Amino acid sequence: MFEKYMLKMFNKKAGSEESRPGEIISHLDIRSGESIADVGSGGGYFTFRFAEEVGDRGHVYAVDVSAKNLGFIREEAKKRYLNGQLTLVLAEEGGTNLMDKSVDLVFSRNAFHHIENPVEYFRKLKRALRPEGRVVIIDNKKEKGLMSRLGHSSTEEEIVRSLENAGYRLERSFDFLDRQWFFVFSAAQ
Ligand SMILES: C[S@@+](CC[C@H](N)C(=O)[O-])C[C@H]1O[C@@H](n2cnc3c(N)ncnc32)[C@H](O)[C@@H]1O
Repeated sequence: MFEKYMLKMFNKKAGSEESRPGEIISHLDIRSGESIADVGSGGGYFTFRFAEEVGDRGHVYAVDVSAKNLGFIREEAKKRYLNGQLTLVLAEEGGTNLMDKSVDLVFSRNAFHHIENPVEYFRKLKRALRPEGRVVIIDNKKEKGLMSRLGHSSTEEEIVRSLENAGYRLERSFDFLDRQWFFVFSAAQ
């Protein structure tokens, strides 16, 4: 019951004007037919937006350590008649359990700060990326707001250094989100 309330709150916040979801999606360069993993999918706000973006030929993986959260997404997906397009993946604390070469884009919003050993986590995740695959991390800025005071946040250095140490290259960053980092990485050659 409480989880359902929390997940609805996550979705409401993710879809709010302040979170600028439309702009986030427009900066991801998603192509129809792509496969996207939403890592730390929570209530699935972005999972469902991605399903619309990739279309019938594409695929979306909702990846989360919480079976309850994935159950909530399963119920929502039924209401939206999303069957073949969506796969739920129960992650472990230390890895996503995605199949090798299964995704073009890994998107993770407000989950990075939960990951205990991000270098190991993202090093393993490289195997799931297809050639030219990209990883997008959005997380609360440590120095700003309530989320920071609650510890649900990261510094720029924590994100960028972890991903670089895991074998990624920072390709782009966007600064239109006042309270969050928005980084795009590619797997370094
Ligand atoms: C604050 S919520 C963010 C939900 C959603 N991405 C959003 O933007 O609304 C963080 C989510 O990350 C999940 N999570 C925590 N640790 C994780 C891990 N190691 N791997 C995958 N998901 C994780 C939590 O269960 C939770 O659903």
